[in-house]
Amino acid sequence: MCGIIGYIGNKQAYPIIIKGLKRLEYRGYDSTGIALLQKGETIIYKQKGKVSHLEDTIVDENLSGTVGIGHTRWATHGEPNDMNAHPHASQNKKFVIIHNGIIENYSRLKKKLKARGYKFISETDTEVLANLIEYIYEKGNVSAEIAVRLALTKVIGAYGIVVICKDEPDMLIAARKGSPLVIGIGNNEHYIASDATPIVEHTKSVIYLNNDNIAVIKRGELTIKTIDNAEIEPQVQELTLEIGAIEKNGYDHFMLKEIFEQPRSITDTFRGRIASDLSEMRLGGLLDIMPQLEKAKRILIIACGTSWHAGLVGEYLIEEFARIPVEVEYGSEFRYRNPIIYKDDIVIAISQSGETADTLAAINLAKEAGATVLGICNVVGSSIPRETHAGVYTHAGPEIGVASTKAFTAQVTILTMMALILGKNKGTLSEESYLKLIKELTDIPKKIEEILKSSKNYKSIAELYKNAGNFIYLGRGYLFPVALEGALKLKEISYIHAEGYPAAEMKHGPIALIDEKMPVVVLATKDKSYDKIVTNIQEVKARNGIVIAIVSQGDEIIKNMADHVFEVPNTHEALAPLLTVIPLQLLSYYIAVIRGCNVDQPRNLAKSVTVE
Ligand code: AGP
Ligand code: GLU
Repeated sequence: MCGIIGYIGNKQAYPIIIKGLKRLEYRGYDSTGIALLQKGETIIYKQKGKVSHLEDTIVDENLSGTVGIGHTRWATHGEPNDMNAHPHASQNKKFVIIHNGIIENYSRLKKKLKARGYKFISETDTEVLANLIEYIYEKGNVSAEIAVRLALTKVIGAYGIVVICKDEPDMLIAARKGSPLVIGIGNNEHYIASDATPIVEHTKSVIYLNNDNIAVIKRGELTIKTIDNAEIEPQVQELTLEIGAIEKNGYDHFMLKEIFEQPRSITDTFRGRIASDLSEMRLGGLLDIMPQLEKAKRILIIACGTSWHAGLVGEYLIEEFARIPVEVEYGSEFRYRNPIIYKDDIVIAISQSGETADTLAAINLAKEAGATVLGICNVVGSSIPRETHAGVYTHAGPEIGVASTKAFTAQVTILTMMALILGKNKGTLSEESYLKLIKELTDIPKKIEEILKSSKNYKSIAELYKNAGNFIYLGRGYLFPVALEGALKLKEISYIHAEGYPAAEMKHGPIALIDEKMPVVVLATKDKSYDKIVTNIQEVKARNGIVIAIVSQGDEIIKNMADHVFEVPNTHEALAPLLTVIPLQLLSYYIAVIRGCNVDQPRNLAKSVTVE
């Protein structure tokens, strides 16, 4: 959600800023802008719409300068329009600021500033911060750094900001609370961005800014302090991210590339964690916590969106194999509903981005209540891994498409491993079954490859149903969360309304929707509820619904009933989510493409939802 990029060095800033903004587009945004420092003056170009649109508009301008900042906005305060786009200048043009996040007490601050003669030209909370900094700077006759620091002590909310001060031109000031910022260290130059994707092509040495840190960034000098003005030693890390991982590599869309990456991303997720003779699995990040996990009376899984669906699969897995009760919660509900949290609870937060505000807030609540909090995250160095007591990275690689695909299967892979290890250690899963399931898990990547070989078949079905107004997705047991995920995928990228349901629940309501125009996607691989799902298919057919079934290889029974079938290779039912979700990803993808939708950046959505 929203992107920040900044540069200070000896190169021309504009090309770096524009390219950086393009790299950040995947995060989701509605407007964009840049500011460049030219001969002691800051020039700003900003407008509603895409980065390329801004680029076209300013092609003939003087875009020189070696200090610059750029922003992609995801509006929270004030509609997406040219005026509300960032950067925002303060009233007397001393400061220019870009901001990610929300200043919660902005209206109180705005009122006070208005009483002191400040006028506002945008509706944003960000402009309030720009003016507050300037007010303190001018009134207090202090340096820009002190003005920023003092202003931030008055702010309630979340922010990642980068500030330029006209009077102190060879410097960027950055600060973070909640919203991530990474500083890249080059040769007599520095970069700053919301994540490492715009930085990696310039340098691999980075510093992740911590909450309540302020960085004063000059060409060859970097100082990081806490908001209480205590200097801290920056911790430089080497990025492992490769540039190829954030490019499309010949695919039409990042989403398609990421769907096709799943055999590899799942392998990367379990690689090094499963012994080569398949006799054992270990999750290094959880080793110390394992004894506590084994004794847990209850596990709470907290996540949002697709990660929440992975959490539901986790519930089924952990309850079945490790016999520990699991509750799966939306971060947003958990944080506000006064939940019961015991000190001996284990909380598992699942997140691709590691920055989801609702999940982070729920983590803090659980920590305050004394629970042990673990994280399952994809983005290395993001906030959730740093806020949790222990955890595991998914190693799916950068996920750029806003609709999550490979992160989901990587999360389910980790949850499967966790459930199996716990079950084996507790003795609730026999050694024999443990070994069998490890083998099954390592076979999953080549089975996904098989499914992907027939990816083109989904195109023709997509063509048939591209104009459907609604879809229903049904599944039972392990495949119920997959039905939810399939429906979410379709909604997100094709804007077709879709509902996921436990197949047996259909008769309690949704069955009323079924007629000859309703496509019903049924997850019907061979498992213990196979006969029941066959009955559910018949119920849909009896009402003339259109059945698109995902079945096990060689299934003849459903083939004779359904309108369309897609086969997936056989596996243990607990691992079926990893296979059955692939056809649903492909179906949504092709429907969205045929409908002409922006697959990688669907409307209104952001990749990491850093506001509540
Ligand atoms: C997935 O396709 C969505 N874009 C969204 O639901 C996402 O899963 C959710 O916002 C949670 O994000 P996270 O995994 O980064 O925490
Ligand atoms: N709250 C700010 C605004 O609405 C920043 C939003 C963002 O994170 O992009 O302008």
